[in-house]
Amino acid sequence: MSVLISDEQIEILISESEIKARINHLAKEISDTYKKSDQLVVIGLLRGSFIFIADLVRRLNLPVEVDFITVSSYGNEMESSRQVRIIKDLETSIKNRDVLVVEDIIDTGHTLAQVLQIMQTRKPKSLSVCTLLNKPSRREIEVTVRWTGFDIPDEFVIGYGIDYAQQGRNLPHIGFVHRP
Ligand code: PRP
Repeated sequence: MSVLISDEQIEILISESEIKARINHLAKEISDTYKKSDQLVVIGLLRGSFIFIADLVRRLNLPVEVDFITVSSYGNEMESSRQVRIIKDLETSIKNRDVLVVEDIIDTGHTLAQVLQIMQTRKPKSLSVCTLLNKPSRREIEVTVRWTGFDIPDEFVIGYGIDYAQQGRNLPHIGFVHRP
């Protein structure tokens, strides 16, 4: 069953310009960190990271390779099933490569923890994480995150790649969803 979200249910949490400014800052730090790297592999977790990774890589002052992995743990539910399924794997070999995993949001941490475990078995030279949003109060498993855009409270968010029942990914800002 599809759920329609009206504009009135969405309250802006992080504006388009705030997102842009933060990404500029993150991109500068990441560019500095990997300036001596051979060729960084930037991996986006689909679908949620597609807008963030697109904006982030365009601001990196580095040669990068971009690849995607699709895993799903939420479906259309509000709570995680805690089960990660790989739907589409990488096409790039990450062995001996510097790898940056890009996430839209870390909630319990289970998705990322399992993805990082899989990546580690492929023996990258280095493996780091950049997430746009982080909900520290929801964490159930420890994950090391090198770059975070914004820590946010435990509210359901939408926009800038993040969906509610597959809606709202195309919003230019990030908003809270007020449920009726
Ligand atoms: C979301 C998000 C993260 C994960 C975070 O993905 O993109 O990958 O949930 O939750 P966790 O920290 O509790 O594991 P989702 O499964 O909703 O898929 P999507 O990226 O296609 O929206």
